[in-house]
Amino acid sequence: MPDERQLGLDTEQRHGLLGKVRRGLGMWWRGEASLRRVVNAGLCNLSLRWRLSRVLGRPYFLMIEPTNACNLRCPLCPTGRGTLGREAAFLPLDLFRRCIAELGRTLIEVNVSNYGEPMMHKDLPAMIACAKGAGARVSIGSNGHFLNDETARELVESGLGLIYISFDGLDQATYEKYRVRGHFDKVVAGVKSLLAQRKALGKANPFVELQFLVMKHNEQQLDAFRALADELGADRRVIKPVSFNVADWDDPATQAAFGEFCPASEEFQVYRREGEAWRWKRAELAFCTAPWRSLTVLADGSVVPCCRDPRGHYAMGNVSDGVLRVWNNARFRAFRKALARRRGQMPICKVCPGE
Ligand SMILES: C[S@@+](CC[C@H](N)C(=O)[O-])C[C@H]1O[C@@H](n2cnc3c(N)ncnc32)[C@H](O)[C@@H]1O
Ligand code: SF4
Repeated sequence: MPDERQLGLDTEQRHGLLGKVRRGLGMWWRGEASLRRVVNAGLCNLSLRWRLSRVLGRPYFLMIEPTNACNLRCPLCPTGRGTLGREAAFLPLDLFRRCIAELGRTLIEVNVSNYGEPMMHKDLPAMIACAKGAGARVSIGSNGHFLNDETARELVESGLGLIYISFDGLDQATYEKYRVRGHFDKVVAGVKSLLAQRKALGKANPFVELQFLVMKHNEQQLDAFRALADELGADRRVIKPVSFNVADWDDPATQAAFGEFCPASEEFQVYRREGEAWRWKRAELAFCTAPWRSLTVLADGSVVPCCRDPRGHYAMGNVSDGVLRVWNNARFRAFRKALARRRGQMPICKVCPGE
């Protein structure tokens, strides 16, 4: 199985036109691309092309954070570092349902995770089933610690389309250097449970992706990761360079921590050192399309323009006000205008690779 690499670009962009066509056909086949959804996505893309601040379509990708709490303390994640600056919260199921009731008919994909461990929310399977029931493809990212036969069965039955599980070390000592408080064996057992339950229930989904964040202390273990992923029977391996969270970019403590974790191998470096500071390696930032097609909802119901705003500094409103009222409100339109004109100067955008 070949590796997928994520170097700040999504799979679709890296695979070019052929990738887009294949992805589109796959969505059509799975029933995720109804005529209504295709027309809506077309309207968003037209609005993007014309740089309209008022988007003609509705968001078709939703990232929704069930909780910002986590059992682990990963040193470069704002949740793990304790720098998120938000109270721990669990999104009420009725607010989740309200979002899906408003957006569900045009949503193509819903990712029920953001900053925090989604499997810590007791209603996660109900949330997934709700979004799936509206016709969207549903994904989550997880550290895998809460996977056992029972929770794995619930996930398979919920209709989850994709789960990506991080595996950043192939023995306890290497694993827990980044996944602080984590247990390597637990994650291996969790992945086995998930694949066994999927098989026992005769389902093709969730698609199981194992993700390896390349860092200084684990870059020698890439082959071992590949071997374990294949042995476990994962559907895809993703190799991804570790990155900063942009909200912490100028924090000297994060910069120092990043120096400790940044891989030595040039191949997996997406940043370069400029004096004391780390800077994005690419000369130019790609234009960001996210605010014309997607929304991110935080666990307290705040609506932010994208997942790169972990602290909710750019909250445009709250789900309880109605998501569609927020989508084209004055704040959101002002944000899109500013992004179109001066992306390179916007604090949350200037160091993001773009979509
Ligand atoms: C913030 S986590 C939340 C989901 C879950 N708790 C987890 O760790 O998978 C979302 C994604 O960010 C990844 N991640 C964590 N720290 C990262 C870093 N420094 N650079 C790049 N990705 C990171 C995680 O592996 C996961 O795929
Ligand atoms: S497991 Fe995920 S949410 Fe938790 S601290 Fe690590 S990266 Fe952050």
